[in-house]
Amino acid sequence: MRILTGIQPTNNLHIGNLFGALIPATKLQEEHELFMMVADYHAITTLKDPKRLTENTLFTAAAYLSAGIDPARTTLFVQSSVAAHTELAWILQTIARMGEANRMTQFKDKSQTGAEKAPVGLFTYPMLMAADILLYGTEGVPVGEDQKQHVELTRDLAERFNRDFGETFLIPEPIIQSNGARIKSLTEPEKKMSKSAPSAKSYILLTDEEDMLAKKIRGAVTDSEREITLDDERKGLLNLITIFSLCTEYTKEEVSERYQHSGMKVFKDDLVMALNQYLAPIRMNMQEYSDDRAGLLEVLQTGNEAAEMIANQYLKTTRERIGILRP
Ligand code: AMP
Ligand code: TRP
Repeated sequence: MRILTGIQPTNNLHIGNLFGALIPATKLQEEHELFMMVADYHAITTLKDPKRLTENTLFTAAAYLSAGIDPARTTLFVQSSVAAHTELAWILQTIARMGEANRMTQFKDKSQTGAEKAPVGLFTYPMLMAADILLYGTEGVPVGEDQKQHVELTRDLAERFNRDFGETFLIPEPIIQSNGARIKSLTEPEKKMSKSAPSAKSYILLTDEEDMLAKKIRGAVTDSEREITLDDERKGLLNLITIFSLCTEYTKEEVSERYQHSGMKVFKDDLVMALNQYLAPIRMNMQEYSDDRAGLLEVLQTGNEAAEMIANQYLKTTRERIGILRP
């Protein structure tokens, strides 16, 4: 099965990206053909800093490799290097309906300051994401819960295209983790962990060192109950138990049973230790990959070429199906 996913190089990565998308992808590459993309054209809908875009693009690629993406078996590439993405995105914009695009909750969230001032690209963003997916005959898309709606839109667009112009695209499925698909903010546990949150205390970055982890976990909002229990209503605690289980071999049930009577302090201290042990090797790899800029560029160039070959094939068929003349 062909799998594709991407992360926007808007900033440093946090553990929501790691557990929601990156780790699932590293597991999927064992048995499937994986395409792993740095979604830089998506990032420019919000990031307007050229230097940071360049650096973050390299950094995101380094994070993929550090978390275990293996370029010998996976195609690691940069979205903007494959021109077919923006071309197919345009075609899909002529297929998608205003009403459909209007229902995307991410646009509503991200344009909170007012749709009037939001970039048009933020509105058409899901059609670019659909193009990313459809250009590779992708069947599975590992993403966090927040991206599910975009994958569903992709399915609808592919089905409509196939119906109107003939079988062209495979219909992709979102692959959502049962545990880790929605890591919550440490300070506002009813919201998802997000890089764009105003407070750095709300997220844990892949590069956070142990003392920073300790500060953030100790400051994480829980509640005043003494016992550690698994309870959907105790959102802050549930989030910490989820993180604990994701960076150890334990299930959430095992974590809560083990710490039931130990008190919040011991629980949090052990979580810091477990999380640090989990992140330390990734952090170290990240340093090494980031230092080797030439090596990173080489990996991306190879990936870009491989991706382009496949994407161009799909684009060619698509253009033919809709009657584009190439004299
Ligand atoms: P983004 O940073 O928006 O490009 O997201 C990259 C990937 O990480 C997508 O698959 C998201 O669904 C996933 N993701 C982002 N935030 C979270 C979160 N808080 N919990 C789980 N997955 C997340
Ligand atoms: N929109 C995704 C996000 O913000 C990133 C992304 C872009 C993506 N293209 C994709 C994810 C294709 C999966 C498949 O998280």
